[in-house]
Amino acid sequence: MRVLVLGGTTEARALYGLLEARTGRFQATVSLAGATRAPVLPALDVRIGGFGGVAGLRAWLETHGIEAVIDATHPFAAQISGNAVQACAQAGVPLLRVERPGWTPGVGDDWTLVPDMQAAACALGTVPRRVLLTVGRKDLLPFATMDRHDWLLRSVDRPDSALLPPGARVLQARGPFDEAAEETLLRTERIDVIVTKNSGGMATAGKLVAARRLGVAVIMVARPVLAPAPVVPDATAAMTWLDVLHDHGASTLRDV
Ligand SMILES: NC(=O)c1ccc[n+]([C@@H]2O[C@H](COP(=O)([O-])OP(=O)(O)OC[C@H]3O[C@@H](n4cnc5c(N)ncnc54)[C@H](OP(=O)(O)O)[C@@H]3O)[C@@H](O)[C@H]2O)c1
Repeated sequence: MRVLVLGGTTEARALYGLLEARTGRFQATVSLAGATRAPVLPALDVRIGGFGGVAGLRAWLETHGIEAVIDATHPFAAQISGNAVQACAQAGVPLLRVERPGWTPGVGDDWTLVPDMQAAACALGTVPRRVLLTVGRKDLLPFATMDRHDWLLRSVDRPDSALLPPGARVLQARGPFDEAAEETLLRTERIDVIVTKNSGGMATAGKLVAARRLGVAVIMVARPVLAPAPVVPDATAAMTWLDVLHDHGASTLRDV
Protein backbone atom coordinates (compact mmCIF):
# COMPACT_ATOMS: atom_id res chain seq x y z
CA MET A 1 0.00 0.00 0.00
CA ARG A 2 1.38 3.41 -0.97
CA VAL A 3 1.28 5.79 1.98
CA LEU A 4 2.16 9.46 2.32
CA VAL A 5 3.22 10.65 5.78
CA LEU A 6 3.16 14.39 6.35
CA GLY A 7 5.87 14.67 8.95
CA GLY A 8 7.94 16.97 11.08
CA THR A 9 7.09 15.80 14.62
CA THR A 10 8.10 13.29 17.31
CA GLU A 11 5.00 11.22 16.47
CA ALA A 12 5.95 11.23 12.80
CA ARG A 13 9.45 9.99 13.68
CA ALA A 14 7.93 7.15 15.73
CA LEU A 15 5.76 6.26 12.75
CA TYR A 16 8.77 6.26 10.39
CA GLY A 17 10.38 3.66 12.67
CA LEU A 18 7.30 1.43 12.50
CA LEU A 19 7.01 1.82 8.73
CA GLU A 20 10.73 1.11 8.22
CA ALA A 21 10.07 -2.33 9.75
CA ARG A 22 7.09 -2.97 7.44
CA THR A 23 8.41 -2.10 3.99
CA GLY A 24 6.99 -5.31 2.52
CA ARG A 25 3.49 -4.14 3.37
CA PHE A 26 3.68 -0.36 3.15
CA GLN A 27 5.58 1.74 0.66
CA ALA A 28 5.82 5.04 2.52
CA THR A 29 6.95 8.45 1.42
CA VAL A 30 7.68 11.01 4.09
CA SER A 31 7.03 14.66 3.27
CA LEU A 32 8.78 17.47 5.13
CA ALA A 33 8.16 21.18 4.70
CA GLY A 34 11.85 22.00 4.49
CA ALA A 35 11.51 24.43 7.40
CA THR A 36 14.24 22.85 9.55
CA ARG A 37 17.78 23.26 8.27
CA ALA A 38 19.04 19.81 9.31
CA PRO A 39 15.97 17.56 9.69
CA VAL A 40 16.21 14.02 11.08
CA LEU A 41 15.61 11.85 8.01
CA PRO A 42 14.09 8.35 8.03
CA ALA A 43 15.23 5.32 5.98
CA LEU A 44 12.17 5.77 3.77
CA ASP A 45 11.51 7.76 0.60
CA VAL A 46 11.62 11.43 1.51
CA ARG A 47 10.40 14.48 -0.37
CA ILE A 48 11.01 18.00 0.89
CA GLY A 49 9.10 21.24 0.26
CA GLY A 50 5.52 22.40 -0.21
CA PHE A 51 3.17 20.75 -2.70
CA GLY A 52 1.65 24.00 -3.94
CA GLY A 53 -1.58 24.18 -1.93
CA VAL A 54 -4.58 21.87 -2.11
CA ALA A 55 -4.38 21.47 -5.90
CA GLY A 56 -0.68 20.60 -5.76
CA LEU A 57 -1.18 18.05 -2.99
CA ARG A 58 -4.12 16.47 -4.77
CA ALA A 59 -2.10 16.18 -7.99
CA TRP A 60 0.82 14.65 -6.06
CA LEU A 61 -1.46 12.04 -4.44
CA GLU A 62 -2.92 11.08 -7.80
CA THR A 63 0.37 11.01 -9.69
CA HIS A 64 1.98 8.79 -7.06
CA GLY A 65 -1.02 6.47 -6.61
CA ILE A 66 -1.23 7.21 -2.89
CA GLU A 67 -3.74 4.98 -1.07
CA ALA A 68 -3.58 6.52 2.43
CA VAL A 69 -2.33 9.75 3.98
CA ILE A 70 -1.17 10.11 7.57
CA ASP A 71 -1.04 13.72 8.70
CA ALA A 72 1.54 13.62 11.50
CA THR A 73 2.32 17.33 11.38
CA HIS A 74 2.52 19.61 14.40
CA PRO A 75 -0.78 20.65 16.07
CA PHE A 76 0.02 24.28 15.09
CA ALA A 77 0.61 23.42 11.42
CA ALA A 78 -2.97 24.32 10.51
CA GLN A 79 -2.42 25.13 6.84
CA ILE A 80 -1.01 21.78 5.73
CA SER A 81 -3.58 19.88 7.85
CA GLY A 82 -6.41 21.82 6.19
CA ASN A 83 -4.89 21.23 2.77
CA ALA A 84 -4.65 17.50 3.50
CA VAL A 85 -8.35 17.31 4.44
CA GLN A 86 -9.37 18.99 1.20
CA ALA A 87 -6.93 17.24 -1.12
CA CYS A 88 -7.71 13.78 0.29
CA ALA A 89 -11.45 14.40 -0.01
CA GLN A 90 -11.03 15.49 -3.63
CA ALA A 91 -8.75 12.58 -4.53
CA GLY A 92 -10.81 9.99 -2.57
CA VAL A 93 -7.84 9.00 -0.40
CA PRO A 94 -8.39 8.01 3.28
CA LEU A 95 -6.76 10.44 5.70
CA LEU A 96 -5.81 10.00 9.35
CA ARG A 97 -4.35 12.66 11.64
CA VAL A 98 -1.97 11.81 14.44
CA GLU A 99 -2.62 14.42 17.09
CA ARG A 100 -0.94 14.24 20.47
CA PRO A 101 -3.17 15.36 23.35
CA GLY A 102 -2.66 18.96 24.51
CA TRP A 103 -1.24 19.87 27.92
CA THR A 104 -3.62 20.78 30.73
CA PRO A 105 -2.76 22.71 33.91
CA GLY A 106 -2.50 20.83 37.23
CA VAL A 107 -2.27 21.74 40.90
CA GLY A 108 0.51 24.26 41.48
CA ASP A 109 0.60 25.53 37.89
CA ASP A 110 0.45 29.27 37.27
CA TRP A 111 -0.79 29.35 33.67
CA THR A 112 -2.36 32.15 31.66
CA LEU A 113 -4.25 30.65 28.72
CA VAL A 114 -4.31 32.83 25.60
CA PRO A 115 -5.87 32.27 22.17
CA ASP A 116 -2.94 33.32 19.98
CA MET A 117 0.56 34.75 19.83
CA GLN A 118 -0.58 38.39 19.85
CA ALA A 119 -2.50 37.74 23.07
CA ALA A 120 0.59 36.04 24.52
CA ALA A 121 2.63 39.19 23.86
CA CYS A 122 -0.07 41.33 25.58
CA ALA A 123 -0.23 38.93 28.54
CA LEU A 124 3.42 39.64 29.35
CA GLY A 125 2.26 43.01 30.64
CA THR A 126 4.13 46.22 31.27
CA VAL A 127 6.40 45.20 34.15
CA PRO A 128 9.84 44.02 32.91
CA ARG A 129 10.17 40.23 33.09
CA ARG A 130 12.75 37.56 32.34
CA VAL A 131 11.12 35.53 29.58
CA LEU A 132 11.90 32.10 28.15
CA LEU A 133 10.29 32.23 24.71
CA THR A 134 9.80 28.78 23.13
CA VAL A 135 7.17 29.48 20.47
CA GLY A 136 9.40 28.71 17.49
CA ARG A 137 11.21 31.07 15.18
CA LYS A 138 8.25 31.62 12.83
CA ASP A 139 5.98 33.15 15.48
CA LEU A 140 8.18 35.94 16.79
CA LEU A 141 6.61 38.94 15.12
CA PRO A 142 4.28 39.96 18.01
CA PHE A 143 7.31 40.08 20.34
CA ALA A 144 9.76 41.73 17.93
CA THR A 145 9.48 45.29 19.24
CA MET A 146 8.98 44.60 22.95
CA ASP A 147 12.03 46.14 24.57
CA ARG A 148 11.06 46.12 28.23
CA HIS A 149 11.70 42.41 28.87
CA ASP A 150 14.84 40.30 29.06
CA TRP A 151 14.50 37.55 26.45
CA LEU A 152 15.96 34.08 26.18
CA LEU A 153 14.68 32.52 22.99
CA ARG A 154 15.03 28.80 22.33
CA SER A 155 14.60 27.30 18.86
CA VAL A 156 16.01 24.50 16.69
CA ASP A 157 17.34 26.93 14.06
CA ARG A 158 18.52 30.46 14.60
CA PRO A 159 15.71 32.97 13.81
CA ASP A 160 16.07 35.93 11.45
CA SER A 161 17.74 38.74 13.39
CA ALA A 162 15.01 41.17 12.26
CA LEU A 163 12.40 39.14 14.17
CA LEU A 164 14.31 38.94 17.44
CA PRO A 165 13.01 41.04 20.34
CA PRO A 166 15.53 43.73 21.36
CA GLY A 167 18.53 42.24 23.17
CA ALA A 168 17.23 38.68 22.87
CA ARG A 169 19.71 35.91 23.48
CA VAL A 170 19.23 32.75 21.38
CA LEU A 171 19.62 29.22 22.65
CA GLN A 172 19.74 26.87 19.67
CA ALA A 173 18.57 23.44 20.80
CA ARG A 174 16.41 20.54 19.66
CA GLY A 175 14.30 18.59 22.20
CA PRO A 176 13.66 16.37 24.03
CA PHE A 177 14.47 18.42 27.13
CA ASP A 178 14.36 16.67 30.52
CA GLU A 179 12.91 18.18 33.67
CA ALA A 180 16.19 18.46 35.56
CA ALA A 181 17.93 20.31 32.73
CA GLU A 182 14.92 22.59 32.33
CA GLU A 183 14.95 23.38 36.05
CA THR A 184 18.65 24.24 35.86
CA LEU A 185 18.00 26.50 32.87
CA LEU A 186 15.14 28.33 34.60
CA ARG A 187 17.20 28.79 37.76
CA THR A 188 20.42 29.89 36.06
CA GLU A 189 18.63 32.31 33.78
CA ARG A 190 16.33 33.50 36.62
CA ILE A 191 13.36 33.08 34.29
CA ASP A 192 10.06 34.29 35.72
CA VAL A 193 7.76 33.52 32.79
CA ILE A 194 7.71 30.98 29.94
CA VAL A 195 5.78 31.61 26.73
CA THR A 196 4.91 28.40 24.91
CA LYS A 197 2.49 26.91 22.42
CA ASN A 198 0.29 24.11 23.72
CA SER A 199 2.22 21.59 21.66
CA GLY A 200 1.51 18.67 24.01
CA GLY A 201 3.63 15.51 24.23
CA MET A 202 6.52 14.50 26.46
CA ALA A 203 9.49 15.89 24.52
CA THR A 204 9.03 19.49 25.65
CA ALA A 205 6.87 19.05 28.76
CA GLY A 206 9.87 19.18 31.12
CA LYS A 207 9.79 22.98 31.20
CA LEU A 208 6.22 22.90 32.55
CA VAL A 209 7.15 20.53 35.38
CA ALA A 210 10.18 22.68 36.20
CA ALA A 211 8.02 25.82 36.11
CA ARG A 212 5.57 24.26 38.56
CA ARG A 213 8.38 23.35 40.97
CA LEU A 214 9.94 26.80 40.82
CA GLY A 215 6.74 28.84 40.76
CA VAL A 216 7.50 30.20 37.29
CA ALA A 217 4.50 31.56 35.38
CA VAL A 218 3.51 30.10 32.00
CA ILE A 219 1.71 31.85 29.16
CA MET A 220 0.13 29.03 27.17
CA VAL A 221 -0.99 29.66 23.59
CA ALA A 222 -4.03 27.56 22.60
CA ARG A 223 -3.97 25.33 19.54
CA PRO A 224 -5.55 26.51 16.32
CA VAL A 225 -8.79 24.80 15.34
CA LEU A 226 -8.03 22.33 12.55
CA ALA A 227 -10.27 21.13 9.75
CA PRO A 228 -12.11 18.00 10.96
CA ALA A 229 -10.48 14.62 10.26
CA PRO A 230 -10.29 11.21 11.96
CA VAL A 231 -7.71 11.49 14.75
CA VAL A 232 -5.53 9.07 16.73
CA PRO A 233 -3.13 10.09 19.52
CA ASP A 234 0.04 8.24 18.49
CA ALA A 235 2.04 6.30 15.92
CA THR A 236 0.97 2.86 17.16
CA ALA A 237 -2.69 3.70 16.66
CA ALA A 238 -1.86 5.03 13.20
CA MET A 239 -0.24 1.68 12.30
CA THR A 240 -3.38 -0.15 13.46
CA TRP A 241 -5.45 2.11 11.20
CA LEU A 242 -3.11 1.40 8.28
CA ASP A 243 -3.27 -2.35 8.91
CA VAL A 244 -7.07 -2.30 8.94
CA LEU A 245 -7.13 -0.24 5.75
CA HIS A 246 -4.62 -2.59 4.11
CA ASP A 247 -6.47 -5.78 5.10
CA HIS A 248 -10.11 -4.78 4.91
CA GLY A 249 -10.44 -1.59 2.86
CA ALA A 250 -11.70 1.91 3.63
CA SER A 251 -15.29 0.88 4.47
CA THR A 252 -14.14 -0.73 7.76
CA LEU A 253 -12.24 2.32 9.05
CA ARG A 254 -15.12 3.86 10.95
CA ASP A 255 -14.91 0.90 13.40
CA VAL A 256 -11.24 1.53 14.31
N1 LIG B 1 4.07 25.16 13.51
C1 LIG B 1 4.82 24.64 14.49
O1 LIG B 1 4.81 25.13 15.64
C2 LIG B 1 5.70 23.46 14.20
C3 LIG B 1 6.47 22.92 15.26
C4 LIG B 1 7.27 21.81 15.02
C5 LIG B 1 7.29 21.24 13.76
N2 LIG B 1 6.55 21.78 12.76
C6 LIG B 1 6.59 21.14 11.44
O2 LIG B 1 7.10 22.09 10.53
C7 LIG B 1 6.42 21.96 9.28
C8 LIG B 1 5.90 23.33 8.86
O3 LIG B 1 5.02 23.78 9.87
P1 LIG B 1 4.15 25.10 9.62
O4 LIG B 1 3.47 25.42 10.89
O5 LIG B 1 4.97 26.10 8.90
O6 LIG B 1 3.07 24.49 8.60
P2 LIG B 1 1.79 25.20 7.93
O7 LIG B 1 1.74 26.63 8.29
O8 LIG B 1 0.61 24.35 8.25
O9 LIG B 1 2.08 24.99 6.39
C9 LIG B 1 2.56 26.03 5.55
C10 LIG B 1 2.91 25.41 4.22
O10 LIG B 1 4.11 24.63 4.35
C11 LIG B 1 4.01 23.46 3.55
N3 LIG B 1 4.11 22.31 4.43
C12 LIG B 1 3.89 22.23 5.76
N4 LIG B 1 4.14 21.01 6.22
C13 LIG B 1 4.52 20.29 5.17
C14 LIG B 1 4.94 18.93 5.02
N5 LIG B 1 5.03 18.08 6.06
N6 LIG B 1 5.28 18.51 3.75
C15 LIG B 1 5.22 19.38 2.71
N7 LIG B 1 4.84 20.66 2.80
C16 LIG B 1 4.51 21.10 4.02
C17 LIG B 1 2.70 23.53 2.81
O11 LIG B 1 3.00 24.21 1.58
P3 LIG B 1 2.11 23.96 0.26
O12 LIG B 1 0.82 24.65 0.49
O13 LIG B 1 2.95 24.55 -0.82
O14 LIG B 1 1.96 22.46 0.12
C18 LIG B 1 1.88 24.42 3.71
O15 LIG B 1 0.83 25.08 3.05
C19 LIG B 1 5.33 20.93 9.44
O16 LIG B 1 5.76 19.75 8.83
C20 LIG B 1 5.20 20.76 10.94
O17 LIG B 1 4.89 19.43 11.32
C21 LIG B 1 5.75 22.89 12.95
